[in-house]
Amino acid sequence: MLKVSKFGQKVAAVSGIGQLMDDLGCALADGRHILMLGGGNPAHIPEVQKYFRRSMLELLEDKGQFEQAIGNYDPPQGNKRFIEAVSTLLNNEFGWNIKTKNIALTNGSQSAFFILFNLFAGTFEDGAKKKILFPLAPEYIGYSDVGLVKNLFVANKPQIQHINNHIFKYHIDFDRLKITDEIGAVCVSRPTNPTGNVLTDSEIEKLSDLACENNTPLIIDNAYGTPFPNIIFTDARPIWNENIILCMSLSKLGLPAARTGIVIANEEIIDMVSKINAVMSLAPGGIGAAIALNLVHSGEIIRLSQDIIKPFYQKKAADAVEQLAEQLDGIDFHIHRPEGAFFLWLWLRDLPISDAELYQRLKKRGVLVVPGHYFFPGLKEQWRHRKECIRINYAQDKETVSKGLEIIADEVKQVYKAKS
Ligand SMILES: Cc1ncc(COP(=O)(O)O)c(C=O)c1O
Repeated sequence: MLKVSKFGQKVAAVSGIGQLMDDLGCALADGRHILMLGGGNPAHIPEVQKYFRRSMLELLEDKGQFEQAIGNYDPPQGNKRFIEAVSTLLNNEFGWNIKTKNIALTNGSQSAFFILFNLFAGTFEDGAKKKILFPLAPEYIGYSDVGLVKNLFVANKPQIQHINNHIFKYHIDFDRLKITDEIGAVCVSRPTNPTGNVLTDSEIEKLSDLACENNTPLIIDNAYGTPFPNIIFTDARPIWNENIILCMSLSKLGLPAARTGIVIANEEIIDMVSKINAVMSLAPGGIGAAIALNLVHSGEIIRLSQDIIKPFYQKKAADAVEQLAEQLDGIDFHIHRPEGAFFLWLWLRDLPISDAELYQRLKKRGVLVVPGHYFFPGLKEQWRHRKECIRINYAQDKETVSKGLEIIADEVKQVYKAKS
C-alpha cells in the first residue's frame, strides 16, 4: 500500500461522505432511471439560466472582455471588478461598510471552509489545540472531513420546538453552549443544510455577541442566504461585523460549476485567505465572476433572487410538505419547518430500522436521499434522533420529486407496519 503523510491519511482516506457520494454517483451511472432526491444540486430554472446565457453571450461579444476573462490570472484575492461590485451591492442593500479589502473569492465556498476551519482550529504554536464549534447539529455534511487533523469539530444538540403534530423547528440550546478556550471559531449555516432551518435574528445576534465576548470569529455560511440566492422564506436579517466571517457562493443561484465562493471578513482574515489562495491555486477562477459581474453591478441579481429563485423553491417546499403530510398519514413523522434552502428534513420518530437501512431500501426502489446520521459532525453524545432522519432534496422537476416522495412514504409505511 502506498505510504503517505498524515495529511494524506486524513484527507485522502475513505470518508463516509466520500463513499456516499460515490454510491450516489454509481447509482445514477448504472443506467437505471433513478429519482435523485439526494445530492445538493440546485434546480435548473429556465428563467434564471436565460440570464446566465445572456451574460455569457455579452461576454463573448464584448470586444476583449472574453479574452480578458479567460486569458489572465486574477490576483489571489480574486477578480477586482467583481469584488468591487459585490461590496457596493452589499453596502447599498444592508447599509454595511464593506471595503474591497474585506472580500476575497475562493474556488467555491467549500474551499473557503477548508481554509477557514484549518486557520482557526488545529494545533497552535503554543501547543494549544482548538476546534470549530457548531452550535446546532444537524449541520452541513460538507464540513465533516475538511479538517487537516482529526477531531476538529464539536457540536451541540439542539432544542426541539414542536410547531404542530408534524412540523418542528430546531433552536440553539444556549444553556448548553459554551465557548471555551478550546474553541477557535464558531460556525453555522443559515439557512441550514440539511434542515432548511433559518436561525432567528435573536439567535444569530446572541451568537454574534457570545463570539465577540470570547474573541472568537463567527463564521456564517450564507450559501442559500440573502441577498443572493435568497432562498429564505422567513424574515431573516443578515448581519456582518468585524468579528463575523460571512461566506457566500454563486452555486445555489444556479452556477455550481463556476466554483465561486465569496468570503467577507476583516482585512487581516481576507489577507490570509488571499495568501492561502495563492499557495493552493495561484488565483481563484474568474469565469463565475465574469458571468455574474453585470448581474451584480446592475443589482439585477437581487431581483432575480427575490422574484424568481425564492418563489420557485418556496412553492416546491410547500408542495413537498403537502404531499408528504398526506401520504404519511398515520405515521409519527415530523418535518423540519422549511424556512430556506431546498431540503426537507424528515424525522421518523422511533423508526424501527436505521436511517442507513432506510437509505438502502429506498435506493433499491430507485430513490436516492441522504441518510441523516452524516449531518452531525462533532456531536459526541449518543442520540437516537440522528438515526431517525433523512434529507430529501426537492429541487428536481415536479414529477421526479412527487414520484420520489410517493415511494418514500410507501416504504416508510411498510417499515412501521412490519414492526407492528
Ligand atoms: C450549506 C452549504 N455550504 C456550502 C456549500 C458549498 O458550496 P460551493 O462550494 O459550491 O460554494 C454547500 C453546497 O452544497 C452547502 O449546502
